[in-house]
Amino acid sequence: MTLKSTNEKQLTLDPENWDEAKRLAHIMLDDMFEYIQLIRNEKIWQPIPQDVKQYFYSRLPIEGKELANVYNEFKKYILPYNKKNLHPRFWGWVNGSGTITGLLSDMIASTMNPNVTFGEQAACYVENQVINWSKEIFEYPDEADGILVSGGSVANLIALAVARNAKMGNEIRNTGLSRNTNKYIIYCSEETHYSVQKAIELLGLGNKHLKRISVDKNFKINLDELFKIIKEDKLKGLIPICVIANVGTVNTGAIDPIEELSVFCEQENLWFHIDGAFGAWLKILREYDNKLNFMYKADSISFDYHKWIYLPYDISCVLIKDGKLLIDTFGIESNYLLKHERGISSGEMVFTNKGLQLSRSFRALKVWFSIKENGLNKYKKMILQNIKQAKYLENLIKVNDKLELLAPVESNIVCFRFTKPSLNQKELSILNKNILMDLQQKGIAIPSSTIINGNYAIRVAITNHRSRYEDFDTLINSILKLAESYISKQEIKNFT
Ligand SMILES: Cc1ncc(COP(=O)(O)O)c(C=O)c1O
Repeated sequence: MTLKSTNEKQLTLDPENWDEAKRLAHIMLDDMFEYIQLIRNEKIWQPIPQDVKQYFYSRLPIEGKELANVYNEFKKYILPYNKKNLHPRFWGWVNGSGTITGLLSDMIASTMNPNVTFGEQAACYVENQVINWSKEIFEYPDEADGILVSGGSVANLIALAVARNAKMGNEIRNTGLSRNTNKYIIYCSEETHYSVQKAIELLGLGNKHLKRISVDKNFKINLDELFKIIKEDKLKGLIPICVIANVGTVNTGAIDPIEELSVFCEQENLWFHIDGAFGAWLKILREYDNKLNFMYKADSISFDYHKWIYLPYDISCVLIKDGKLLIDTFGIESNYLLKHERGISSGEMVFTNKGLQLSRSFRALKVWFSIKENGLNKYKKMILQNIKQAKYLENLIKVNDKLELLAPVESNIVCFRFTKPSLNQKELSILNKNILMDLQQKGIAIPSSTIINGNYAIRVAITNHRSRYEDFDTLINSILKLAESYISKQEIKNFT
């Protein structure tokens, strides 16, 4: 028996006219390619006019409009005011510069639209392969495991959750943090990224149990202080559980002494985590072998594919050396996700048991496409190119007595300032802050800033595959010109 069909029109969100939709799609793709191709000619940043900001407060659309019209609005109100970290002179924070292959893979991943949770589906095999490649890069054993996540902050959270459960006992999943938890201590240098603090707070361990160890003149953790404090803490009845090392600190790119820390953590039975959000990638360069050949000793490593592998946001990875511990921390059996002997539920890989997310996008595809296309060797060359550019910039600063390097250049981060003997520290900080704001506002270049030993620093972090040596000449020449114009107009005393 069949039910009588009605005349009611049944809806879908697929296009009514596929040919028209394809034409528009091709226009969009052409526009996006052109945008990237010509990005050097674009103003790197421009303020968002008031009327454009106002546009974003229009009321909820109840009725729709043609996609082509919406796209025109996008081109008018959104695209011109992009942050433009694709631009060759964008070196702010540690932003990735994006790739065409990443763009195309994201489009394909969204087309396929798999939920990469579990099951017998190609996307699970792709992510598993990307994790295996990552293990190979960091010389991790077969029993290691990992998961792709949104960013280094989440990667650190996952790693530290595993560390906590491994060291405080997995029973914590049941009992919560009720048992003497204020005795457990984690250690890192004072240059460590704040995502670690967020993780420690979220994990219920408490910020005051994250002990920040001072750094030496090269911004690396002071080992003697670390060893001393851990010894004293143990005598006080506290329980050290974990040391976090930086391979590339966010401020200056400093690399903590990995060999000494790994040996110490092994002796003391401490979890050894490496935050290598961008710097971990130095591992693929033989030039950094002597600093990083003990990375494989770490119990966990986090690193971003959206920083120094240049992929579009957002994609990061966390590896756990003893992969079983990842599942001990996150695994849960449920009636609605039962594994079957046959069919789509028969797959072996259960990503939801390795992290927080149940619904997960097909992030892995852009890594898969890109590594296959470029091979590791291309990335070695690209990363080395950025390091040489950092050295080039360092030299431009060193040969000019109007510029002062504020931290050693260990990899891709250069911190410096304009300087003048007649100005005091406060005036120099204010002058350099104004120079930075001018560089950004005039659309010349986008470095960011930080504070080094109490002084304002212009900070250039190079994870950009479009930068050229000439771009650093432009930066330095512009800084000198801007500074001279402030000085000649005697404006510094009026700065606030
Ligand atoms: C050393 C370090 N750790 C962690 C992070 C956080 O990574 P994400 O921005 O991908 O969350 C960053 C970001 O710059 C970083 O530099």
